[in-house]
Amino acid sequence: MKHYLVTGGAGFIGSNFIQYLFEKYGDDVRVTNLDKLTYAGNLENLKEIEAKSNYKFVAGDICDAAVVDALTADVDIIVNFAAESHVDRSIGKPDDFIKTDIYGAFVLLEAARNNKIEKFIQISTDEVYGSIDKGSFKETDVLEPSSPYSASKAGADRLAFSYFKTYDLPVIISRCSNNYGPYQYPEKLIPLFVTNALDDLELPIYGDGKNVRDWIYVLDHCDAIDFLIERGADGQVYNIGGGNECMNIEITDLILETLKKPSVLKAFVKDRPGHDRRYSVETKKIQTLGWSPKYSFEDAMKFTIEWYQDNRWWWQKLKTGEYLQFYKQNYQKAL
Ligand code: NAD
Ligand code: DAU
Repeated sequence: MKHYLVTGGAGFIGSNFIQYLFEKYGDDVRVTNLDKLTYAGNLENLKEIEAKSNYKFVAGDICDAAVVDALTADVDIIVNFAAESHVDRSIGKPDDFIKTDIYGAFVLLEAARNNKIEKFIQISTDEVYGSIDKGSFKETDVLEPSSPYSASKAGADRLAFSYFKTYDLPVIISRCSNNYGPYQYPEKLIPLFVTNALDDLELPIYGDGKNVRDWIYVLDHCDAIDFLIERGADGQVYNIGGGNECMNIEITDLILETLKKPSVLKAFVKDRPGHDRRYSVETKKIQTLGWSPKYSFEDAMKFTIEWYQDNRWWWQKLKTGEYLQFYKQNYQKAL
């Protein structure tokens, strides 16, 4: 039985990954979830598994070497999701991005080295490449991150690689495109626009709305990580994508149509500073190994929109307090 240390497991993708592991491996897996529970961490994401005897939640910081080292002692696999993850927040206040995304990854890598971990998965992002007008980035392309967020992720990505190269640590780095699905904090495009539309609030579209992202359903991302733990080669980088490139305006229209809300809710606002025009990754490398996404964009988007419609209890209380303050400031700046 494998023992996973999942960091950032009470956030969007981490909590979906933990649910995925229990769905797939049942009693034949042990999971320790280390999460600092920042504004983005939410134990309600894992209500259904919190009582399991093979699951343990630890409230703590990945920058805390004593906590990390103690937890790592009997772990087989580390999957590092923990990060500050929102580009707009990194533009306003980069400090915690540098601390968590870079220094936190360093602390985890050191613990992995000291405790002879079997596999270390660094969850990187397609944003580390920067923007591409035509074609798609390959794993060997140069990294040109544009925001403090993506620069901090690029730092961790290369630091993880250095631990493979220098210390033979069995590291795999994944660079996935934009995820969507249940339990995504409602500051990111899709959950923000769905929940705003449900409340008849404006949908703030940055710039001309023609920026392109490649969308992947979160469980496809989780499945790809599980696949890479089994089949990926140490020291390698793997792009992961959904193959669904859309302009933000197309996503906006799809949300409004699905919810039968009027297009007057669309509000074009000032652009995000340094806004990357288009992300696109070539995914031949992971496909050649035998993995490709399973969910159709149409069905999974419909399911996701309906999930937010049916689970107001989950998101409504998140859109108050600190969130509201951040959102109002960000929106004011964009007007
Ligand atoms: P998220 O913001 O929803 O979750 C991040 C989690 O990390 C939260 O639970 C938070 O409490 C925790 N955390 C933050 N700082 C911490 C610290 N110092 N110690 C311990 N825990 C801490 O983010 P997400 O969207 O689920 O993204 C997860 C990972 O996947 C990130 O590394 C992100 O860069 C990467 N990624 C995200 C996407 C996407 O589309 N969301 C795509 C590719 C890669
Ligand atoms: O590409 C992977 C990345 O995707 C991850 O590494 C990041 O953690 C994740 O946050 C996401 O980054 P983006 O900046 O692409 O996601 P976001 O949801 O913030 O924005 C998606 C697009 O929508 C982007 O072009 C900006 C635009 N946008 C976003 C918001 C929040 C708007 O037009 N209005 C908005 O209010």
